[in-house]
Parts: sequence; C-alpha cells; structure tokens
Amino acid sequence: MADLDDIKEGKDFGLDTPARNEPFFLKGSNALDWGMQNRLSRIFNPDSGRTVMLAFDHGYFQGPTTGIERMDLAIPPLIPHADVLMCTRGALRSCISPTSTKPIVLRSSAGQSILTELSNELVAVDIDDAIRLNAAAITAQIYVGAEYEHQSIANVVKLIDTGSRYGIPTLAVTGVGADMARDARYFGLATRIAAEIGAHYVKSYFIEDGFEKVVAGCPVPIVIAGGKKLPEGEALEMAYRAVDQGAAGVDMGRNIFQSDSPVAMIQAVGAVVHRNESPDNALQMYQDLKSDMEG
Ligand code: R5P
Repeated sequence: MADLDDIKEGKDFGLDTPARNEPFFLKGSNALDWGMQNRLSRIFNPDSGRTVMLAFDHGYFQGPTTGIERMDLAIPPLIPHADVLMCTRGALRSCISPTSTKPIVLRSSAGQSILTELSNELVAVDIDDAIRLNAAAITAQIYVGAEYEHQSIANVVKLIDTGSRYGIPTLAVTGVGADMARDARYFGLATRIAAEIGAHYVKSYFIEDGFEKVVAGCPVPIVIAGGKKLPEGEALEMAYRAVDQGAAGVDMGRNIFQSDSPVAMIQAVGAVVHRNESPDNALQMYQDLKSDMEG
C-alpha cells in the first residue's frame, strides 16, 4: 500500500497558463469522442490532415483482380509506404502479417458480384469481428440512385450505429452504378447523404467540373478513389487536383497495384498527398525510384 505519510502538496499548477482545449484537426470531427478521434488520427496524418489509403478489397466482388492475384506477394512491399490498408477480413487474416501496425479500414459489406446487380449488398462483418481485427474503421457502399439504394444506405447506417458503440468510425463509399452520371450533382448528393446519416468520412471520385463544390457541401472529410488504371502521370495529376480542391487524401487501389512499379507509385502519391508535390515532380520521383529499383 502506498505510504500515505509521504504525500507532498502539489506546487506546479501552471496558474498563468490556460488549460489546453485544442480543436481537432479533421473537418466535422470536433464533437466526436476520444476513441473515434484517436482512430481517425491513425487514419489521417495529423500534420498534413491527409491520408494515403491502399485499397485492395476489389476481390470481394470481382475476384482475383489484375495486380492483386496474389495479395500475399503484392501487398507487403507496399505496406511501409501506405498510411492505411483497406481490405476484407479474409485478405487480412490470410495475407497480411499481424505484426503490421498500419491501421485497417475493414470492408464490411458483401453479397453481390460482377455477375449480378452491384448495389445488392448486406453487412457482412459483425462488429465483434471488426473489434477482434483491431479495425480503425469499417466501411460499406451507399448506392444512391441504384436499384438497392435503400438497402445499401441501411447497411451503412447499421455500421455507423454499431461502430459508434465502440468508438469505431465508418467510411461511407459512394458506389456508382454502371449507367449513373458521374458529375458534381450526383456526387454532391451522394456524399452529403453519407455525411448526414453519420458517416465519419466519405470516399468519392474526383471529377473535372465542380469537385470543389462537392467537397464544400460535405461536412466531413472526403477521400478519392483512384478508379480505373491511368498512366502514372495522369493519376498523380488527379491526386494533386483532388487534394488541391479540398480532398483529405486518396483511397487508391488499381493506380498503385497495377502500376509498372507499385512501390515507386505509392511513394509518389504520398509525396503529392502529404507534401503537395507537383504532378511533374512526383512523376519524376516515380521514374527515379522505378529505375533505382530496376537497378
Ligand atoms: C471499390 O469498390 C473498392 O472499394 C475499391 O477499394 C475502390 O474502388 C478503390 O480502388 P480503386 O482506386 O482501384 O478504384
């Protein structure tokens, strides 16, 4: 038992210094609980306010996607350069070492495939399993305007409600059906719905016209998906323009793991996202790293 006779009177109360009461660095996240803010601070770099999420969850509906046919070979070399890994629980348990301390954004929906209607999803991970996997966030799509719009929004609402009980944030992905317009009006609608149902951050797509307005109309951070594979210079240009117009980073898959040099590409993307490197300089960086690695 502590010696009660030895308790000394406190002396240094810093009476000239007001108590610290700093605003949280992420847009729209000031009123969240400590655990939520702590997990979001692992996902978003508190210095830049941005993130490079490496997405490799594609297999949950499209099978062994080019570049990640063997996740155990393709992903580990990229991990040191990613801020976050976004994947399914199956990929995590089978292919990713638990010694990795990178935060996991856990794909928590399934129920469709490229052979059927994409919007027909269900919540496919119980919150208990997300906790067992030490997920930093959970995620599913809302398919606004698609056949199963209602169900997909209900899925994300369920994630938000269950995650909130345990301080785990939810990323809402704006899924787009094949025949839906990819314009500012659509993404403005979808991202705003995602935020208003309580998503802690939202994944959208970069668009040429009006992206800045999409970001402004969404009260929580937006990250952009990479989308289909582009030449490296174009993908870096897209990332640059997205963060320049207010995106809080990228959630990029194919433009990294389908690159000729994925390890060089993820570092170039990181330079754009965290250091505002120009697309030209980032492309040069990519080419230099690629030729160094080719020896
Ligand atoms: C899409 O359903 C998946 O969630 C992907 O993670 C997402 O589209 C990002 O990957 P990519 O950059 O390849 O579009």
